[in-house]
Amino acid sequence: MNIQHRLIRAVVALVLGVTTHLAQAQPAAPFKIGFILPMTGQSASTGKQIEGAIKLWQAQNGATVAGRKVEVIIKDDATVPDTTRRIAQEMVVNDKVDVLAGFGITPSAFATAPIATQGKTPMVVTAAATSAITERSPYIVRTSFTLPQVTVPIADWAAKNGIKRAVTFVADYGPGLDAEKFFKSQFQLNGGQVTGEIRTPLKSPDFAPFLQKVADLKPDAVFVFLPSGQGAAFMKQFGERGLDKSGIRLIATGDVTDDDQLNDMGDVALGVVNSHHYSAAHPSATNKKFVQAFEAANKFRPNFMAVAGYDGMHLIYNALAATKGKGGGDALLAAMKGQVFESPRGQILIDAQTRDIVQDVYIRKVERVPAMGNQLFNVEFDVQKAVKDPAKSK
Ligand code: PHB
Repeated sequence: MNIQHRLIRAVVALVLGVTTHLAQAQPAAPFKIGFILPMTGQSASTGKQIEGAIKLWQAQNGATVAGRKVEVIIKDDATVPDTTRRIAQEMVVNDKVDVLAGFGITPSAFATAPIATQGKTPMVVTAAATSAITERSPYIVRTSFTLPQVTVPIADWAAKNGIKRAVTFVADYGPGLDAEKFFKSQFQLNGGQVTGEIRTPLKSPDFAPFLQKVADLKPDAVFVFLPSGQGAAFMKQFGERGLDKSGIRLIATGDVTDDDQLNDMGDVALGVVNSHHYSAAHPSATNKKFVQAFEAANKFRPNFMAVAGYDGMHLIYNALAATKGKGGGDALLAAMKGQVFESPRGQILIDAQTRDIVQDVYIRKVERVPAMGNQLFNVEFDVQKAVKDPAKSK
């Protein structure tokens, strides 16, 4: 072969190489995660917390997974379930999102479940906590918690700590009814007696008449579940009516002593024993790093909603990586099932059968912590390990 031929061959090879390279480098469409969150309305604090967590996750982990660009779309449903459903429909049909996520309250998650099923679109629930949500669609996976999961441990604790007669006090909808039912059955199983069951309206509740009922019933303790965002108003009225000095103990799920509001509740919250899966004071290295970075980025303390949003992003990133950036509803769902990873709350598992989260549940007491700026925190002092949703494991 003479020099001319060689030259021509080399040029042809180069051109071919460049064109195939260009064809391969054709960027894949971005992988879209459609978060529907209550950024306004009654549960706006949940939206704000989860949005902060999504942004932190992306700032720390980038916006590319297995070579695929990840685009997060956040839309506000104003805490209105009909709006959640409409936005979900638009996201699946028009935006062609690969994953739906968020859902601040149970009715919003219920409203969206059929859309996840029809679209074969994984739906990652990062807030709502009624047990039955994951049963409404085979495409639902949850990174938050369930009310039965966090309620059974406080019912155990109460019975072992001298509380014999208790009144339940819950928001009158899905998660509240779960809390009421599972507190009662577990407390009774341990020999306790529920002497009153009080339900408060979900929307703009005035707790005063219900607190009067508690005072009249004079139980050893009142067990409270209210959704994130209502704890501070409840505590204020509990104190104003002198119930904190009445000898009636206040016990709760950690939704009431929510890190989002806890530090502003003041002394009335001191000593409240409660159970939950996340405290900003959880003493692990992973959590310390998380809280520090979250506070630096957002100027407020992360709560359990933020952690569920952060872990939701983690779950989705892992699933996308497992499909080598290809995605696809069924492949993503399969990759989400059975995942185990270290969360700021401790190790978590997505149960492959139920698609619900398995996690440690802590018993905590509200204390002023001198080593943490003398602020109020839920200080963990006991734990039940790897708790499955008891409503499903029975
Ligand atoms: C819910 O609506 O499922 C819900 C909302 C806030 C909570 C817990 C459950 O803190």
